[in-house]
Amino acid sequence: MKKNKTTSTTNSLADLQLREGQSIDLLKSLHILTMDGKINQDSRRKLKQVMHLFQLIESPLMQLIQSQSKDGENTPITLADHGAGKSYLGFILYDLFFKPRFDKAEIPFFGHIYGIETRESLVESSQLLAQQLDFEHMSFLNLTAAQSIQDPSLPSHVDLVTALHACDTATDDAISFALHKKAQLIALVPCCQAEMAAQLRHNKAFDLSRMPLSELWRHPLHTREMGSQVTNVLRCLYLEAMGYQVTVTELVGWEHSLKNEMILARNIHQKKRSAAERLQALLQEFGVVEWGAKRFALN
Ligand SMILES: C[S@@+](CC[C@H](N)C(=O)[O-])C[C@H]1O[C@@H](n2cnc3c(N)ncnc32)[C@H](O)[C@@H]1O
Repeated sequence: MKKNKTTSTTNSLADLQLREGQSIDLLKSLHILTMDGKINQDSRRKLKQVMHLFQLIESPLMQLIQSQSKDGENTPITLADHGAGKSYLGFILYDLFFKPRFDKAEIPFFGHIYGIETRESLVESSQLLAQQLDFEHMSFLNLTAAQSIQDPSLPSHVDLVTALHACDTATDDAISFALHKKAQLIALVPCCQAEMAAQLRHNKAFDLSRMPLSELWRHPLHTREMGSQVTNVLRCLYLEAMGYQVTVTELVGWEHSLKNEMILARNIHQKKRSAAERLQALLQEFGVVEWGAKRFALN
């Protein structure tokens, strides 16, 4: 009986494709594993998303460390995660990437992870967990993504900005934050965004009278989907116009999440004029120039 139990737990863990040295205690504290080491099926999807996101940013993060290293010394790497929720992403990044480097005494390494979250109870529980685990280079701030741009608790420069399913316009505020902090790397997996859909809805009658393309958002469900799709396209153009190289991929299989589009942007410090022109042209085409000028300020 006992043997079967152990085997099934071991198989389940193998299924999760955990990394060597990954903290089982952390996974239990995050309720991804139950206290007897089994997979909590509700959290399994989240772990899959977080692990995949980690895999996608691990190599650019390594490159960032290498490019910032001078004379064998490492400069601090700072990361801000917007709409952190229970901070699965921050904790796993800390456990897999930051902690092993902090623990290597022969290579001085500094860094800090900031979780930005509007729900106070989640901020408090993450703070407590970080204390319990001795993850001392983590802070959790009860702020909106927009407030965090000017908040003095955050440094003037942040290397990596993430936003995994941050609600609605929190992704856009995370982009503004990243631009303000001159982030080297931005990883976004957007949630629904209502602003653009509201604009399309507002202009619908006029658009239907002037262009056949507006059939793409005539039905309410399509309005919502087109709103999200167009928003993500505008976000990508905006990032390119502001000096970033952008790739768009799936995060995990669609069976794990419908909100699955991953936008990865690296700062190559080359503002693309054609992207700025295309951004303006699309805003014009959709009749949303005024809204777009505020949301995607090119300066
Ligand atoms: C869908 S959850 C995602 C949580 C986490 N990133 C994850 O993937 O597990 C979105 C989180 O964003 C937070 N949130 C919503 N609006 C926000 C804002 N403007 N700024 C910061 N956090 C926000 C919510 O409280 C919620 O915890």
